[in-house]
Amino acid sequence: MRTVAVVGSQWGDEGKGKIVDLLAADADVVVRFQGGNNAAHTLVVNGEKFVLRLVPSGALHDGKVCVVGSGTVVDPFALLEEVDALKKRSFLVGDNRLRLSYDAHMVMPYHRAIDRAREARLGKSAIGTTGFGIGPAYEDKMSRQGLRFDDLVDWKTFREKLERNIAEKNLYLKSVLKAKPLNGGELVEAMQKLRRRILPYLCDTGAFVADAVRRGQRVLFEGAHGTMLDIDYGTYPFVTSSNCIASAVFAGGGLPPGKLDATLGISKAYTTRVGSGPFPSEIHGKLGDRLRSEGGEFGSATGRPRRIGWFDAVLSRYAVRANGMWALAVTKLDVLSGIDPVKICVAYTVGKERHDEMPPARHALAKAKPVYEEMPGWSGSLNGAQSLEDLPPNARRYIERLGELAGVPIAMVGVGASRDATIVLRNPFRD
Ligand code: IMP
Repeated sequence: MRTVAVVGSQWGDEGKGKIVDLLAADADVVVRFQGGNNAAHTLVVNGEKFVLRLVPSGALHDGKVCVVGSGTVVDPFALLEEVDALKKRSFLVGDNRLRLSYDAHMVMPYHRAIDRAREARLGKSAIGTTGFGIGPAYEDKMSRQGLRFDDLVDWKTFREKLERNIAEKNLYLKSVLKAKPLNGGELVEAMQKLRRRILPYLCDTGAFVADAVRRGQRVLFEGAHGTMLDIDYGTYPFVTSSNCIASAVFAGGGLPPGKLDATLGISKAYTTRVGSGPFPSEIHGKLGDRLRSEGGEFGSATGRPRRIGWFDAVLSRYAVRANGMWALAVTKLDVLSGIDPVKICVAYTVGKERHDEMPPARHALAKAKPVYEEMPGWSGSLNGAQSLEDLPPNARRYIERLGELAGVPIAMVGVGASRDATIVLRNPFRD
């Protein structure tokens, strides 16, 4: 297979970064196609931790081209900071390693200010956003007020648009949100300085990706967040502001429709979510705290503690359908070692009704109670496991059961944080 999308099948933070990094070894091009720096992909390479927010995880391999596609929203200050940090550690060196779409929209400081002020005003009803201005930036894109990197080419026109936007946003911040307005002059000046550094990265990424595919190159599409955070498929309004499912690779990644060979979904061996919203298989109390601490379940983007739950097979089946999933990679199996029994949510009840599939009206999820299946646990370190045979029998049965319930083959199993702590049963680029 030559074109592969990796997507989250839960509420984000499934460990996509590590799997993308593993697959990137065989890819020529790695593409981000949606979201912004609200994503944070954590990778451990040679014992060193890297957190990538905007630059695709292919950056950690020599010679791969990293593309930030038109469906993303990019904070240019955050992007350059990330590029500098990578270059300092001798990554992303060489010409044209990073290509940023002319059509991608910019996240500006006023978007962050609006995001934060709105959340503060919502109080208990807040979405729990990352506060990075993602929603307001996508709003501007849709209302056609957004600033694209394309606009930056002509400074005079860009400046006019920026000043118009600052004036309008400041009015909104002050009068509606009762928040502090921005210093417009400082922002204009900062953008003028930054412009020269951004222009060399600009590219018609749609043409670039289509051409790479035509030439038979291997292209990996790196999804951010997860199916349940998708603006259409997720637990609205507790979602992010982009489509996170695999079909977004066409509009946002430049892949011509019909050219995607496979979608690999990523799921933790349990479930987590950050922010508010329904979570039927949530675990409260000591067990949740233990998994949070053993799994290091604190948001990479914001440091917030993640909510913890059992594996939810109803969500998985839903994600398999939403993404036309070819296979599932299950991460962080090692975190469940020592827990006995382990539970899997196989269905929900809403009132008296049992739902084996996602309830048709999504609001029902808030009232859904989990129906659990229990399995005997296992203990001990899974370190060094290279195949399913190397796992304790109960861990192996657990993985096989997840595959049966999700209805797709299991392609990979994560047994530790480092790059090589992954059992690879199927690799789409090598199949
Ligand atoms: P926003 O994307 O910052 O607008 O946040 C909207 C919702 O998506 C919040 O619940 C966030 O916690 C969640 N979210 C956004 N990005 C991620 C991610 O990469 N991992 C987990 N949750 C995320």
